[in-house]
Amino acid sequence: MNQHGSNSSSRPGPLQGRRIGIGVTGGIAAYKVCHVVSQLTQGGALVDVLMTPNAQKFVGEATFQALSGRPVLCDPWEGPDPSDPQHIRIARRLELLLVAPASMNTIGRLAHGITEDVITLTAAGIPPHTIPRILAPSMNAAMWSQASTQRNLQVLQDDGWLVVPPDDGMQACQTTGPGRLPEPETLLQAISDHLT
Ligand SMILES: Cc1cc2nc3c(=O)[nH]c(=O)nc-3n(C[C@H](O)[C@H](O)[C@H](O)COP(=O)(O)O)c2cc1C
Repeated sequence: MNQHGSNSSSRPGPLQGRRIGIGVTGGIAAYKVCHVVSQLTQGGALVDVLMTPNAQKFVGEATFQALSGRPVLCDPWEGPDPSDPQHIRIARRLELLLVAPASMNTIGRLAHGITEDVITLTAAGIPPHTIPRILAPSMNAAMWSQASTQRNLQVLQDDGWLVVPPDDGMQACQTTGPGRLPEPETLLQAISDHLT
């Protein structure tokens, strides 16, 4: 058994050695993505977790580092060599990028080419239409219903991003409606569907 409880002597699965980026933004549902990262890692994937500063207010960098067994990128200025920035190195090796939860704010930045954090910078380092880029938006129902949110998502879909639609139901802010991050199993299915 390895540190994640999986049996290393079993045959390699479809995730074995696959390079997956998970961008975590500042949303209440960030905790659900811990399970996604854990499952991917147990399946043998090499998971690079990218976090915005606001994401770190919800889940600590150490949690994702432990679950992925790899360094987590939070600050674009991290790294020993400015001539070889980490976000570019990660962007070049990824086979799929999932941003989950994708906040209203990060969706807006991605749609408008604003690259102020490691997720938007890494995404900008991936040439369009080369690998699957998936967004799983998560926000309260009022944020989800904003014209700007829907407009920005349409822009991103027109640019080739895939969107996992949010679930409808009870939200952390005690309202009910669309905006819940889908359960980890749905996100894992979206990854395996698009990781060809
Ligand atoms: C307690 C709390 C919960 C929040 N939950 C969400 C959320 O689920 N979705 C969202 O889009 N924004 C949410 N926000 C607002 C974001 O954290 C805020 O827009 C932030 O600027 C997002 O930054 P980022 O996209 O760089 O991570 C929440 C804010 C607070 C204080």
